[in-house]
Formats: sequence, structure tokens, C-alpha cells
Amino acid sequence: MRTSGEEQARYEAATPRSRALYEEAQHYLPGGESRTSTYWPPYPLTIVRGEGCRVWDADGACRLDFFNNFTTLALGHNHPAVARAVEAQLRDGTSFFGGTEHQVRLARMLCERIPSLQQVRFTNSGTEATLNAVRAARAFTGRAKIAKCEGGYHGTHEALAVSTTPPLALVGRPDRPAQVPSDPGLPQSVVDNVVVLPFNNVEAARRLIVEHHEELAAVIVEPVLGTGGMVPATGEFLAMLRDVTEQHGIVLVFDEVVTFQVGPGGAQEHYGVTPDMTALGKLIGGGMPVGAFGGRRDIMALYDQSTSGPHLGHAGTFNGHPLAMVAGTVVLEHLTPEVYRRLSGLGEGVRMRIKALGRELEAPVQATGLGSLFAVHLTDRPVHNYRDAAAVDEDLRLRVFLGLMNEGVYLSPKLLGCLSTAIGEAEVDQFIAALRRVLLRNMK
Ligand SMILES: Cc1ncc(COP(=O)(O)O)c(C=O)c1O
Repeated sequence: MRTSGEEQARYEAATPRSRALYEEAQHYLPGGESRTSTYWPPYPLTIVRGEGCRVWDADGACRLDFFNNFTTLALGHNHPAVARAVEAQLRDGTSFFGGTEHQVRLARMLCERIPSLQQVRFTNSGTEATLNAVRAARAFTGRAKIAKCEGGYHGTHEALAVSTTPPLALVGRPDRPAQVPSDPGLPQSVVDNVVVLPFNNVEAARRLIVEHHEELAAVIVEPVLGTGGMVPATGEFLAMLRDVTEQHGIVLVFDEVVTFQVGPGGAQEHYGVTPDMTALGKLIGGGMPVGAFGGRRDIMALYDQSTSGPHLGHAGTFNGHPLAMVAGTVVLEHLTPEVYRRLSGLGEGVRMRIKALGRELEAPVQATGLGSLFAVHLTDRPVHNYRDAAAVDEDLRLRVFLGLMNEGVYLSPKLLGCLSTAIGEAEVDQFIAALRRVLLRNMK
């Protein structure tokens, strides 16, 4: 087995300009970055350009992009139709004190496609989408607590910053997970308002919701645990959440910021479970900053200022930003049911081939995911929840990540992957061949 130093040494030898830019960045940006998830040791890459399924770094190296900024680029980089629409909007103006037709068009497309959306509001990020969904649920029910799943990530606001990536030493009982603050300085009152559910544990999660039902405003869940390891919920788990929340008047929120990539109506259509509210982001802005939240008309009425109150405030200088609205509209126009089927088929093939590679090499390698979302897990145990996904040799995972970089494939540091329509069978062949070489170097 090689040492971690060898993949790292190769990475460093190939990326001197990224290193120099990172060192300069560290003077001005703490950690050299503006985004927690884009740091990895020894230093992250600086990207200069993307085209289709490829990105180029500051040293001129080209890599296959199998992460696509975590589902923001369903059509790949610099898609000509998206670029044309954005260029036209640039000429018409970038920002107005007033609405545009584009936001109405995108809202209509989303409401027509996503079963739970009767009405929708736009934001500038997925964080703001889940933040507003939580506020709406609290205002609608008059209750304070929110239940979320262990390992569930819903953005950087405080209300849900509990047990997102808790250290395994602190997680507590599997049927009654501990409330682990995700950040220092999180007030205890915020932690106390979060009930942590065990993902995919039907009976234990039901028990916890029933126990707290009088205080629960909402249950929020990612139908596929994204940052937590691309682990799909079972249909039984989501059906239980629907059933118990309906019974107790709790607002069920699906966070589909990532899972809207699995099909035209999102994961809710795939599973046949319709929540009360849905949070969206990433894909629907076609590469521009965006978010959206919506759902039942009676809940969304909280935002309707043409009626008598009480109203919930939702200002935001850039809400419904024209560039995001036009880019998102073009992306959705291209994502026909047929295109989604092709993407999901490609994803299924990727997962099957990763598993086959593990068997062939007799290495502890697994794949999870849904549709065109996937993750590589370096374990021989089945992965059903956050704890299963987090029980990994982190040094080995870093070696595999840097090894893939060295082989010209860009995944996330946690080995999460998201396909785009710019990827074809030839690129999947290249990815699998690269993964094979990396696993042979690092696991045999
Ligand atoms: C499921 C989920 N919800 C919400 C967010 C937050 O979105 P944003 O980064 O746009 O604030 C993310 C970001 O990765 C996410 O994965």
C-alpha cells in the first residue's frame, strides 16, 4: 500500500500555480476560501474555466467534472443555450427594483413539475430556501421545534445547524440521536428546538415525532441524504414521515436542493410522497446563485401582501434575480423527461460499475445514490444512514480523492458525484478506469 504522501506529492507537483494562488488567498480570505466545502488538504485547486463536462485549473490541467458544483450544472459548463440567454439578459439589465416575466415563467415551470408546489418564492441560495421554509412552518403552526435527520444538511443558517456532520463519538444512541451543535457559539435555545431523527429508522423516527408532536412545527428531510453520503431514503421512511406529520398537523418539508436532479418532479415524484413544502436551489438557477421555497397555497398565503395579514417578511435585494431566472428557465426547458431518463440511466450504470470494481478488486468499495447522484464509499458494510457513511478511513478517502484528481477526474472530497448531460458513456469509461487505477494504487 502506498502512503498518503505519494498521491499528495503528485498532486502538488502538478498544481504549483494553484498552490501559489492559495497562498496569496490566505492573506485575504481565512483559509484561502469563501466556502467551507471547497477546502481540502494540502490546498484546493483554483479553477479558471469550464466547458461541457470538463474544467481547467490554473496550471492548465483539464479534468472531467463528475461533481458539477453539486447539481448546479445539470447541462454541464457553459451550455450554449444558457450562455445565450444570460448574455441577452446582461444587455437588458442585471438587477431591477421590480419583478420580471422571467421569474413568473420559472415559477410556473416549477409549479407545473413539482407535485407539492402550488406557489413558490425565490431566494438567492438553498440556505435561504430552507430558512424560509422553517419560518413559514413556525408561523403557520405557532409551534417552535423542528425535526431533522442526523447527517442532514440544509445550509448555513442556525435553525438547522444541529447534527449535520457530528463526530461519531458524540452521536449517542442509534434510535435517539444526540443533538450535536454543528458550530461553536450556537445558542442552547437553538439546539433545544431541534429534534434529531435517525435517518431510515422508521420506528424510532416515528416514536420521536409522536413524542414531540405538540411542539413540532416541521419535519425537514433530504429524500437522499446528500452531504451525508448520497444515501437514499427508503420509500417506507418517507411514507412514515408523511403519515405521522399529517396525523399531527406538522408541516413536512422536503429539502430538494440537490434531489431535484433525480427527475422532472424531483424525488417527491420518484417516491410518490408529496410534502407540504419544498426547498429548492442549485439546478434551478442554471449555474447562477439561486434558491426557492414553496408548497401549499394556505401556507404560502403568509407572504401574500395583497390580503390582510399576518404576513411574513421576505425582502431580499436579489430575490428572483433575472440572470438566475433566465438561466434556470433554459435548463428546465432542456431537462425533458427523456433527458432525465438518460441521466438516471447513466447514474445507475456508474453505481453498478463502482460496485463491480469493488468485487473485481476484492476491495471494500460500495456505491449509493439515486438517479444521476452517486457516492463512492470505501467500506464493506452496507450504507443506510449518516453513521454508516461516516465510518470511513478519512486518510484513505483523501488519498482516493487526490488520486482521482491526479488521474484527471473531479469528484467532491467526500467522493460524492453528480452527473450532467454533457457526460457520455466514454467519460464514464474514463472515470471507472481512473478509479480502478487509484484503488489499485491505494487499497491493494
Ligand atoms: C440539501 C441541501 N440543502 C441546502 C443547501 C444549501 O444551499 P446553498 O449552498 O445554496 O445555500 C445545500 C448545499 O449544499 C444542500 O446540499
